[in-house]
Amino acid sequence: MKLAIEDVYKSFDPPTASHRRFVLRGVTLQAAQGEFISLLGHSGCGKSTLLNLIAGYIRPDRGQILIDGMRVDGPGADRGVVFQEYALFPWYTVHENIAFGPRVRGVPAGAAREMTQRYIALVGLTGFEHVYPDALSGGMKQRVGIARALANEPIVLLMDEPFGALDALTREAMRQELLRIWLQVRPTVVFVTHSIAEAVALSDRIAVMSLRGTLEGIMPVELPRPRDPHTPQFLGHVKTLEQMLTLNGTSSHARDPVAYRGE
Ligand SMILES: Nc1ncnc2c1ncn2[C@@H]1O[C@H](COP(=O)(O)OP(=O)(O)O)[C@@H](O)[C@H]1O
Ligand SMILES: [Mg+2]
Repeated sequence: MKLAIEDVYKSFDPPTASHRRFVLRGVTLQAAQGEFISLLGHSGCGKSTLLNLIAGYIRPDRGQILIDGMRVDGPGADRGVVFQEYALFPWYTVHENIAFGPRVRGVPAGAAREMTQRYIALVGLTGFEHVYPDALSGGMKQRVGIARALANEPIVLLMDEPFGALDALTREAMRQELLRIWLQVRPTVVFVTHSIAEAVALSDRIAVMSLRGTLEGIMPVELPRPRDPHTPQFLGHVKTLEQMLTLNGTSSHARDPVAYRGE
């Protein structure tokens, strides 16, 4: 397994509450080499928390996360992260933004330049090397974000609602772009979304998260890509996921108040 999440618990210290509230309660999930996994769930169910744990930005209270069998205990170049809000350096050009990672890792200048050009071409930004992020559209900024993450040649690519800030048409185009890039480079991907259609369009498997901090279930999507969202098979997956999400929706607090409050 490239990525193993083993019985992970995570809570944050609430300022006033007397109960310890676990955002994640015993999450276990694995990803194989080159697999595309989505984390799907309602806002506030802990998707970003789980992604930040994998990224090593925060630590679990219990359990562990392994990348290639090595325990995560902080951020590292083996994980590339793409955020919704791009997080590009505004004072660096496209080329400089993408070259930053390889340079920090100590890749010699010539090789870093060659790598950077390769990833710029991969994401379709040839000709924009010397442009600053401010002058780019949202979709192009996110291409830079993807190239920058891939330039570290990570084992796992982590994406937190990367297309959430884009308009519908750009978003659809970027999904296709991401699939093309993923098929070419084939990193293991953990992709956070609250869009059912996005998860079905992209994923090998979808991990449905519940508001109780557990995994509601894992759904494999064995449809050939590119996937036509109008086929009965696609719509069947959407319907099943809708039902899984409704079952663990806001009403779950009332259904299971003790579990929700946590230990
Ligand atoms: N640093 C933090 N401190 C306190 N609470 C947090 C922190 N980060 C996240 N949370 C809480 O954890 C829950 C899950 O948040 P998050 O992982 O961002 O959900 P999602 O990404 O699925 O919308 C939310 O209730 C949120 O308020
Ligand atoms: Mg989030």
